[in-house]
Amino acid sequence: MLPAIEIENVHKHFGSLHALKGVSLTIEQGEFFGLLGPNGAGKSTLINILAGLTRMDSGAVTVMGHDVVKDYRQSRYSLGVVPQELVFDPFFSVRELLEIQAGYFGQRKTSGKWIDRLLEGLKLTDKASSNMRSLSGGMKRRVLIAQALVHKPQVVILDEPTAGVDVELRSSLWEFIQMLHQEGHTIVLTTHYLEEAEMLCDRIGIINQGEMIALDSKEALLAKGVGQLRTLRITLANHIEALPDLVKSKLQHASANVLEIRLDRHNDSIVAMMDALRDAGGEVVDIAIEESDLEDVFIELTRQAT
Ligand SMILES: Nc1ncnc2c1ncn2[C@@H]1O[C@H](COP(=O)(O)OP(=O)(O)OP(=O)(O)O)[C@@H](O)[C@H]1O
Ligand SMILES: [Mg+2]
Repeated sequence: MLPAIEIENVHKHFGSLHALKGVSLTIEQGEFFGLLGPNGAGKSTLINILAGLTRMDSGAVTVMGHDVVKDYRQSRYSLGVVPQELVFDPFFSVRELLEIQAGYFGQRKTSGKWIDRLLEGLKLTDKASSNMRSLSGGMKRRVLIAQALVHKPQVVILDEPTAGVDVELRSSLWEFIQMLHQEGHTIVLTTHYLEEAEMLCDRIGIINQGEMIALDSKEALLAKGVGQLRTLRITLANHIEALPDLVKSKLQHASANVLEIRLDRHNDSIVAMMDALRDAGGEVVDIAIEESDLEDVFIELTRQAT
């Protein structure tokens, strides 16, 4: 089967800034892919190249087999992009805007029912005749999503779609995106809410300073993080004056009677820590172990790379 997206060794400079340093990535049809990375990592630049909005210096990119440069129209038809920035013509109503967009893709006549469904799925039905100008930021973002989906693209890219969207709407938005995914659409998502990526994505790529520094299944990435990081929180009944060296060397944070210790899953023994504390006169009343989440993995990986 044709990959949904194929990115090969893409370079992009903005003046002297090397924004993408030879990025390669293949996303299969039907994947729910998460593209993560700190501010300025190059996520939007990569997305803009996919959408044909930014020209790469070198490399090759296809969407559903169509070259984004040589076969721009076909590749653009296969793709729906929800941009990070909110840009609109303020004078149209929500429905007008969607109809115009459908017309642009040559689907003006056939799109009515689908537009209704988009409006409903994105909780915009009562705003259909409102002027764009009168919508709140979160509502505008929902219209952006509807706009990207109006031509039922096979591949949907969402660049931080939940920025500025309230919690309730965020979850209804995810329901809608998950439904699209179940219907067979390929989804690519960038987000700063790591729990979102953790919840939704099958595979995750982490980009930092224009380089893909990790690319793996969510499970594999989490496993990697768990291997390096694990926090042990020990509550003592009493205060120990001199902590044993074993504990001191791994101590991350200490308050009155609570010690937070960073453990390496493979090399540090919880039992040894407890024994050392007991030998030093500590009376342990509670322990809690916090497994690392994607956020830890992300911090760890970007720290290693800089
Ligand atoms: N049009 C442009 N002109 C000059 N520099 C640019 C342009 N677009 C992006 N950059 C620079 O390229 C780098 C990557 O930016 P990009 O917008 O791709 O980051 P990002 O990963 O999307 O970040 P964020 O999480 O903040 O959205 C940044 O240093 C940015 O300042
Ligand atoms: Mg961005």
